[in-house]
Amino acid sequence: MKTAIITGASRGIGKAIALKLAELSYNIVITGRNKNRLTDLKKEIEATGNQCLTIIADLQKDDAPEMIINKTIEHFGQIDVLVNNAGLAHSAKISETDTEVWDSIFKVNAKAPFFLSKAAIPHLKKSDNPVIINIGSVVGFKGYAGQAAYSSSKHALAGFTKVLAKEVQNDGIKVHLISPGGVNTEMVREMRPDIDTGELILPEEIAETVEFLVTRKGKGIIDHIYIRRQSGLPFD
Ligand SMILES: NC(=O)c1ccc[n+]([C@@H]2O[C@H](COP(=O)([O-])OP(=O)(O)OC[C@H]3O[C@@H](n4cnc5c(N)ncnc54)[C@H](OP(=O)(O)O)[C@@H]3O)[C@@H](O)[C@H]2O)c1
Repeated sequence: MKTAIITGASRGIGKAIALKLAELSYNIVITGRNKNRLTDLKKEIEATGNQCLTIIADLQKDDAPEMIINKTIEHFGQIDVLVNNAGLAHSAKISETDTEVWDSIFKVNAKAPFFLSKAAIPHLKKSDNPVIINIGSVVGFKGYAGQAAYSSSKHALAGFTKVLAKEVQNDGIKVHLISPGGVNTEMVREMRPDIDTGELILPEEIAETVEFLVTRKGKGIIDHIYIRRQSGLPFD
């Protein structure tokens, strides 16, 4: 049975992706820090007849990536899909951003995907359809005032994704970057209370994009998918 790891699955986009991949009959590994939410999600996934492993891990800790990969292999014996979704956002001007905030954002958004991917690659190489999906952001290629640390970390993730895709192409591992604009989750409701939630992208739409990427066949390769809010300008 194919196995998918989704980081940051306790809520929001990660939870929607975990439920979608369970629908596709993957064994699901969900990670995050919030034990109660992960336990509830595990029950929801198991009720659909799928196996689910929860791994409580703080991605700010250096040993978390290897621990997540090792526990997954001990439990399910294989990894087919890795979704680097966990993310930490922060709204502050550069003048008000201290080193502690910068470090925590970079650890979760850029460092953890790097070392999770590094640890997962030897196992992904054994899969017949290995996929790594990094959840970036519109601020991974644009720059919004007041989001310097977050935007820098998503630029770093985009840069890493480009190199990763090239380095593992010959191993047959497909690497995709999904860069959404505002999605209706707790993160954006906290960061951008000015935005009308009715016009935000739904987390399920990101999950459908993941479904498309892991199920599609064909010769063409999709590197990057950018999904914007309706109120944004096309190709802006
Ligand atoms: N919402 C948006 O508008 C939007 C737009 C573009 C991109 N994104 C990206 O999409 C991804 C998911 O965002 P979301 O909107 O679903 O955010 P969310 O609702 O805030 O969820 C974030 C997830 O990341 C996990 N996480 C945060 N810090 C962690 C840490 N130190 N260790 C382990 N897990 C941690 C959280 O789990 P715990 O709390 O259980 O630790 C949670 O499950 C992020 O990478 C985000 O940057 C979001």
